[in-house]
Amino acid sequence: MFNFFRSTQKKDVLIEKPNHIAIIMDGNGRWAKKRFMPRISGHKKGLESVRNVISQCQKLDIPFLTLFAFSTENWLRPSQEVNFLMSLFQDSIIKESSSLIKNNVQFKLIGDRKPFSKSLISKIKNLERLTEKNTGLTLSVAINYGGRWDIVNAVNQYQKSDHSKKTFTQKDLIKNLSLNFAPDPDFLIRTGGEKRISNFLLWQFSYTELYFTETLWPDFNEKVFMDALFEFQRRERRFGKTSEQL
Ligand code: IPE
Ligand code: IPE
Ligand code: MG
Repeated sequence: MFNFFRSTQKKDVLIEKPNHIAIIMDGNGRWAKKRFMPRISGHKKGLESVRNVISQCQKLDIPFLTLFAFSTENWLRPSQEVNFLMSLFQDSIIKESSSLIKNNVQFKLIGDRKPFSKSLISKIKNLERLTEKNTGLTLSVAINYGGRWDIVNAVNQYQKSDHSKKTFTQKDLIKNLSLNFAPDPDFLIRTGGEKRISNFLLWQFSYTELYFTETLWPDFNEKVFMDALFEFQRRERRFGKTSEQL
């Protein structure tokens, strides 16, 4: 009965929304290449899609949004592109802060901050502090983030804690992961057509619904987002159980 309802419900009514959406924002370089422009113009354009998806999540009352902006492997790119991306992050943190504060967004940065400049680290901390009491969307941006780094970092943090003599449990790991303030993502959207995780939230994606679209990140818009969300609501999430048990 429930399955019947699920497959026949109207496509344009969103009833079941994800609590936590993660996005791999891929395809900026190809977007630019198609237009005979340098890769960095794709990254600049991609920032507009970031603003849009934040406001769509706010409109839909989605509590958590986590965006993958720079992986631990992205340092291997040409230094000109890496430098551009680092200054784009720094500029955005400054320029977007007033709108995040005004819109009641709680900002978090996840990833290894060690290689960042002192000034970038202090700007990040400042924005996190200014928005920590906000009660709207929790926006996490993953910069110099890798799922493998996150897990190893969590184990190291645990080892430094007082309880490190007892048997290590899943809870101990979860408490020390960088997304310890959020539930696991229900839904992953990856733009740009690649069907892989690229070292994003390896632990947290155990039961996440995966969605891949050919749309390049700078072309991501409300229609692509809503199509993805309608697909999410058609999925049957069984978590190991049978259909009949749900
Ligand atoms: C994603 O777009 C942004 C980052 C990884 C920083 P890409 O730059 O990977 O774009 P493509 O995949 O080369 O098109
Ligand atoms: C994944 O994109 C990382 C981000 C979007 C930040 P990549 O373009 O780096 O992924 P691969 O190399 O194609 O797997
Ligand atoms: Mg890419």
